[in-house]
Amino acid sequence: MREADITDIISFIGSGPHINPSLLSADFANLGRDIRYLEEAGARILHLDIMDGHFVPNLSFGVPVVSAIRRSTRLLLDVHLMLQEPQKYLAVFRRAGADFLSIHIEVAPDPRGLFDEIRKLGAVPGLVSNPPTPVEAILPYINDCELILTMGVMPGFGGQTFDSSVLEKIRRIRRVANENAIISIDGGIGESTISAAAAAGANLFVTGTALFGKPDIKKQFQKLKQLIVNEDEK
Ligand code: DX5
Ligand code: ZN
Repeated sequence: MREADITDIISFIGSGPHINPSLLSADFANLGRDIRYLEEAGARILHLDIMDGHFVPNLSFGVPVVSAIRRSTRLLLDVHLMLQEPQKYLAVFRRAGADFLSIHIEVAPDPRGLFDEIRKLGAVPGLVSNPPTPVEAILPYINDCELILTMGVMPGFGGQTFDSSVLEKIRRIRRVANENAIISIDGGIGESTISAAAAAGANLFVTGTALFGKPDIKKQFQKLKQLIVNEDEK
């Protein structure tokens, strides 16, 4: 499923809660198969981690892989740019099929110009912050973009332990953000942490290891989904 209109995409994801599978932990030799499993499980969006070996001490995948994923699915693509110079790559990732393009506040202390560029390209802008970055650095901009992503770990690798001090950051963001804002959490999210993130106000949950590390991806997707749906009904 791929909403044609940006406003529809924003309200659809913002009305969440949604699990946002991070393909970083998928089986890259069987990426198409893993994406099929996620579609069958009811996923509506996929999280794609782009790393440059500078902003984060790791490399992942780039434009050709995003294009190949775009050709293989109609799910929304949420592209998380862990790049020192994201401005250089917005257009190519949009052309490759990104629906959301998120940039880090640590490399774009005033991100409003980049949000405008992302919107002009026809994508939805997002702002990401690392755990040590104070919430005050992002508060002035959270209503200038549609997706506010808080890292629960230092970016660069899957499978790290969730830093629960970021829950307070999410609470602060929730209080200030527009009602329909997409408030996302990425890193260390799994069965033991997802409900706390939902209770703090997140509505989009990036999950890598906790999803792909299990023998039955579909069942695990539904299990995690159940945990946030229940939280939403409280
Ligand atoms: C980390 C990435 C995450 C990563 C999350 O730098 O931004 O999206 O895939 O992985 P888990 O869910 O394993 O912490
Ligand atoms: Zn990510």
